[in-house]
Amino acid sequence: MVIKKRISALVVLTCLLLVALTGCGSTTATEKAQPSEGAQSEASGKNQTQPQGEQRKILVAYFSSTGHTQSLAKNTAEVLQADLYEIVPQVPYTKNDLNYNDESTRATVEQKNANARPAISGKAANFEKYDTIVLAYPIWWGQAPRIIDTFVESYDFSNKTIVPICTSASSEIGSSADALRPLCSSSAKWVAGKRFSEGTSKNELSSWFASIKIIDKK
Ligand SMILES: Cc1cc2nc3c(=O)[nH]c(=O)nc-3n(C[C@H](O)[C@H](O)[C@H](O)COP(=O)(O)O)c2cc1C
Repeated sequence: MVIKKRISALVVLTCLLLVALTGCGSTTATEKAQPSEGAQSEASGKNQTQPQGEQRKILVAYFSSTGHTQSLAKNTAEVLQADLYEIVPQVPYTKNDLNYNDESTRATVEQKNANARPAISGKAANFEKYDTIVLAYPIWWGQAPRIIDTFVESYDFSNKTIVPICTSASSEIGSSADALRPLCSSSAKWVAGKRFSEGTSKNELSSWFASIKIIDKK
């Protein structure tokens, strides 16, 4: 009788031990399959900080004689979170220089001369660090002002993306960028540019730059 009781107790103990062991085993498997809480939040944190689309380093370089292109360039730099560089002529344009009703005035004389290269004051810092250059200028007699020729010839644009944009009284961007293209490295990638009117909003700019894939869509 005593022996029978001891055997029963032994059987019960063995069963309990087996259940306990099996239970522990399954817990360990589950723990191995799931990342720890810390690891999980770290992984999802990484996903959240992944760059959304292309992360470009953009410089908005502009020339402006009466402020229209400057305003466009400033808004563009803000929308693109880009750096801004003003192309400043060594000899500033006076009001008379810009009088296109008189064909003998400076701006018009320069535009008629394909070899005119008005000098620029100063240099854009760390130009090599940018992969995309937005080039903003006013239209002068259907073309970019000659000082833009000077700018394009002054830097190495190899493999950079160039986005020309302009302001004007009414003319479209036309062939102005095509005329600049041969002046810099043939490996530069020119995007078809656009003329913007004075009142263009940041939202319109943002949509256009998203449409040409310079920034991601909002
Ligand atoms: C010499 C000169 C030529 C111009 N030629 C044109 C032209 O061909 N077509 C046009 O629509 N506007 C023309 N304009 C007007 C300018 O493109 C326009 O006012 C521009 O927005 C000025 O930009 P800014 O204030 O940044 O200098 C000309 C202006 C000047 C001074």
